[in-house]
Amino acid sequence: MEKRAERTDPVTEVRRWVIPGESRAYVLTFGCQQNEADSERLLGLALSMGYGRADTPEEAELILVNTCAIREHAELKALSIIGGFKHVKEKNPRVIIGVCGCMAAEPHRVEDLKRRYPYVTFTLEPAKIGSLPAIVAAAIRTKKRSFLLPDAPTVVPKIDEGLPVERLSRHKAWVSIMYGCNNYCTYCIVPYVRGRERSRASGEVICEIEGLAASGVREITLLGQNVNSYRSDCDFAGLVKRIGEIPGDFRLRFMTSHPKDVSDDLIACFPDTPHLAPHFHLPLQSGSDRILAKMNRHYDAPRYLSIVDRLRARDPEITLTSDVIVGFPGETEEDFQATLDLLDRVRFDQVYSFIYSPRRGTPAAEYPDQIPPDVSRDRMRRLLDLQCGISAEKNRPLVGKTLRVLCDGPSPDGTPGIVTGRTEGGKLVHFAAPEDTAGRFVSVKIDRADAFALRGTLTE
Ligand code: 5AD
Ligand code: SF4
Repeated sequence: MEKRAERTDPVTEVRRWVIPGESRAYVLTFGCQQNEADSERLLGLALSMGYGRADTPEEAELILVNTCAIREHAELKALSIIGGFKHVKEKNPRVIIGVCGCMAAEPHRVEDLKRRYPYVTFTLEPAKIGSLPAIVAAAIRTKKRSFLLPDAPTVVPKIDEGLPVERLSRHKAWVSIMYGCNNYCTYCIVPYVRGRERSRASGEVICEIEGLAASGVREITLLGQNVNSYRSDCDFAGLVKRIGEIPGDFRLRFMTSHPKDVSDDLIACFPDTPHLAPHFHLPLQSGSDRILAKMNRHYDAPRYLSIVDRLRARDPEITLTSDVIVGFPGETEEDFQATLDLLDRVRFDQVYSFIYSPRRGTPAAEYPDQIPPDVSRDRMRRLLDLQCGISAEKNRPLVGKTLRVLCDGPSPDGTPGIVTGRTEGGKLVHFAAPEDTAGRFVSVKIDRADAFALRGTLTE
């Protein structure tokens, strides 16, 4: 009988190649929280293969770029940075460069990376993160590059449980509860690059959160493209209630929600479910029913408003934030005015607004009536002006109040002695405190408020 070749598992195979104490990995992240969570798994896998952590790409032997494809700007930025890695590869031929994330699931980008970026070693789509060791091992063994095309959109990828994860924060944690999206909003690339929707088993989610709570994590954010359509042996509201029973001093957030799937049960979770933060991020996208239909959003403005009214009836203080797209194909001045009117009526605490960016392969990219960039820019400016006033007005009554704030650490702008944190509602607060306040809940009296942030004084 023919002797079978001995197969080593890929992690061991890479470990033989890695030089202990010398070979390091660098993970660069673009895009959303889901990508940040994926990057923590990419780094976890790299460390499990024996790589150390690199602070810069120049000192790395494994460079992983976790890309975003939601808008063209994000893709161009990633491509320009990937272009710069040419010199890293020239200096050190051992360097392995992988392009991961949503761009790695777009066939035209994969083709482009293969042809025009010869120093890129492989692409790895988001649904296959668990294959990283196998891909790196094959790259080392065969010295060949690999550019796999994504699976057909009908395939439901299996969820890789138990991947190693290197969490970048000690007090905040992402917990993905579902992956992919089945909604096919006509502007959005996500269903094509992140595949069919699939939910993690509730037992796995609960177990992960129990572990995080026991280790002292203070904020847990449940992640998914549309967490409201989570379904395993319970629905999303059921999951939130079960998390409410977990002991520990942590707050619970979730994103992102889809208005069409917000259930009465979920609304009823506010304000009394333990841990649940009084914040709801509910993307509106447009205030015009005509545009919402063209976006394939499955709700209209009255239905959206009814969710807002019911949430506020449960908790008048709840923070409401949203996403809006400006300049969707065919958006008339009247449609845009309907969006402004809705913002005026809802009075969101914060709105993240985006100029529509055509995504290859999505229906809206083929719509004939694309909006000229100067019109979109002008509408964007008007929207920002309106919302800036509303956000400032929503924040003003907080002056004089003492709020519970989770301190995140030194202010990112580097102002000495100043730290930042988030209120229960998720609002950004700057205040003076020692650096070791990071990761603690503290009381802060609000002294000043503008549209984007609060300033206050530590009172304990
Ligand atoms: N162009 C502009 N914005 C987009 N978004 C999604 N796709 C596009 C696109 N093609 C926005 C939506 C979504 C947020 C994450 O990004 O508002 O809620
Ligand atoms: Fe994109 Fe719509 Fe899915 Fe959100 S719900 S990821 S906007 S397709």
